[in-house]
Amino acid sequence: MLIILYNIIGEIMIEERIKELTEIINKANHDYYVNDNPTITDQEYDRYMEELMRLEEAHPEFKKVDSPTQRVGSEVISSFKKVTHEIPMLSLGDIFNEEEIILFDERVKKVVPNPKYVAELKMDGLSVSLLYKNGELVRAATRGDGVTGEDITHNAKTIKDIPLRIKQPIDIEVRGEIYMSKASFKRLNENGANFANPRNAAAGSVRQLDSKVAASRNLSCFIYHLPDPEDYNIYTHFDALNFMKELGFVVNPNNRRINNIKELMEYVDYYTKERPKLPYEIDGIVIKVDDLNDQKRLGYTARSPKWAIAYKFPAEEVLTRVRDIICTVGRTGQVTPSAILEPVRVMGSLISKATLHNEDYILSKDIRIGDIVSIKKAGDVIPEVVKPIVERRDGTEKKFNMVEKCPICGEELTRKEDEAAYYCLNEHCPARKQEKLFHFTSRHAMNIIGFGDRIIEDFYNLGYLKDDDDFYHLYEHKEDLKELEGFGEKSIEKLLDEIEKSKNNSLERLLFGLSIRHVGTKTADILAKEFKNIDNLMKASFDDLASIKDIGNTIAKSVYDFFKDENNINLINKLKEDGVNMSYLKEVSTEETVFTGKTFVLTGSLERFTRDEAKIRIEELGGTVSGSVSKKTSVVIAGSEAGSKLTKAKDLGITIWDEEEFLNNLSKY
Ligand code: IVH
Repeated sequence: MLIILYNIIGEIMIEERIKELTEIINKANHDYYVNDNPTITDQEYDRYMEELMRLEEAHPEFKKVDSPTQRVGSEVISSFKKVTHEIPMLSLGDIFNEEEIILFDERVKKVVPNPKYVAELKMDGLSVSLLYKNGELVRAATRGDGVTGEDITHNAKTIKDIPLRIKQPIDIEVRGEIYMSKASFKRLNENGANFANPRNAAAGSVRQLDSKVAASRNLSCFIYHLPDPEDYNIYTHFDALNFMKELGFVVNPNNRRINNIKELMEYVDYYTKERPKLPYEIDGIVIKVDDLNDQKRLGYTARSPKWAIAYKFPAEEVLTRVRDIICTVGRTGQVTPSAILEPVRVMGSLISKATLHNEDYILSKDIRIGDIVSIKKAGDVIPEVVKPIVERRDGTEKKFNMVEKCPICGEELTRKEDEAAYYCLNEHCPARKQEKLFHFTSRHAMNIIGFGDRIIEDFYNLGYLKDDDDFYHLYEHKEDLKELEGFGEKSIEKLLDEIEKSKNNSLERLLFGLSIRHVGTKTADILAKEFKNIDNLMKASFDDLASIKDIGNTIAKSVYDFFKDENNINLINKLKEDGVNMSYLKEVSTEETVFTGKTFVLTGSLERFTRDEAKIRIEELGGTVSGSVSKKTSVVIAGSEAGSKLTKAKDLGITIWDEEEFLNNLSKY
């Protein structure tokens, strides 16, 4: 009796839950697509959807005709006939930014040295396979799970872009995308429908049992794939597109044959801008290797072809939850709060942490632990929390209280006048020390390759590294180091070699590496050039420093104070004894050269120089080297495998030298 009662209660609860999930998902869809105001995170959405699918599968008796799961499109609906795709309908790998396009091109080039591509708009609809026998449409099927789809012939026949009879009486399968134009979508919703977007509207229309419904929806279809081109003596994808067009299919006129990465980037840029003006929705660009033999050589992964990729337009702002707010200590002692987030993909990268800058920022935006927040990532910058979604609060969120003590060493924090930031002023704080050590090895400082922050932390905790000069005594622990997990004879030798090499660096690297407040790479360069060696610099008065062009009072005071500090003087002396170079090694030519006054950008790999060597040569001859291409760039020196910088330089009409030309110009002096 009790068991039966439990079962009944269980069933009622499941039915209730299905209803509840349906409502949540429908509302989320409405908020996201119609109101353009998302209220739940992607993870939450996926979790609800998975739960609903699971319950519906176990209890089909409770599944509603309007269930949101029917819009997902990976499930085969039982009332439609199942269709097996002889050649599976694969999906494409996704990429999200220009660098990944360049990487794709590089991967292709490893197999196909000089690839040509076709770039196409990525239609936001649902893919369809159309089968013709003797020139007549006999079957249309959705993709389903790629192997088994649903027979939608009766609805496909209502779509005007899908020919019922093609221009040749042949057997052929073609594939493409059924979509709904923006205008038809608007009209449909104005007439009382409530679809979230044109893709869902197209999918919902195609999955109707009554073909009168699909017929009334004004669907369209572009064809973009011929699975068996060789049967028709076709050897490039572009020719396949033309062939299908000749047969009477509608092929997107915006498809382009692409000769090189520059043209590819131009296509992507153009349609990124043009996207709002198009009469249909696109969600990215599809890039396909054109030559079918090249496609064969590239092959497939289990899920997608290696010869094609989908570049997806970025989602600019996404929602996620703040799991915690933590404070980290930088090498200057500045304590910065960061939000620890439920991982989420933004602009192509997985984000689990975002800066909150300082206490004032958190207070002014009222960001709380547990909040759903929108986060934004613009280009290469650190992801940032934009705002909390206040409507999503349920009362469990906790206000953040700025720590009063250093989270690492416990020192009372100090807020400097006119600054929003708090500082740990304890010179011996382990966090500060480790950050400082890490900075000493960094690329623009002593450039000691092989030190990650984990190694620094381990060596610090083992007592091998405390101050910067300890790097030059690590060899004394060589035998112990070899015993450490993750290290071997070879890796330790390599690390020690790198350390040894760094002794010959020019002065500016050491100055930057010493973590003097307000001294970045540019100031370090100026100081090194001006004083030529560290002794001159250490003797300089505040006025000597402040009178240098581009050195203001704040920097002058900071540098002056640094070299008056006993600990710092000791450190410099120890480094000197260790044999670290303390002089400026570059002498800039006073003679006018083709490099004088010009700004150079180095890109790609040069055969005869490292980047640093090339930089030194340019600077010796009076030029400067910058990291990014802009209108101010005079010359871009492009080695092999040059990527987006070269493309940009070409766009801006900037002079480009290859390595040969660079060498010719160097040899004049
Ligand atoms: S090619 C093997 N071209 O994007 C070739 N797909 O993420 C596979 N799509 O399932 C497809 N526009 O539904 C291709 N111009 C286009 C496309 C396109 C939209 C869709 C298609 C596919 C998905 C892959």
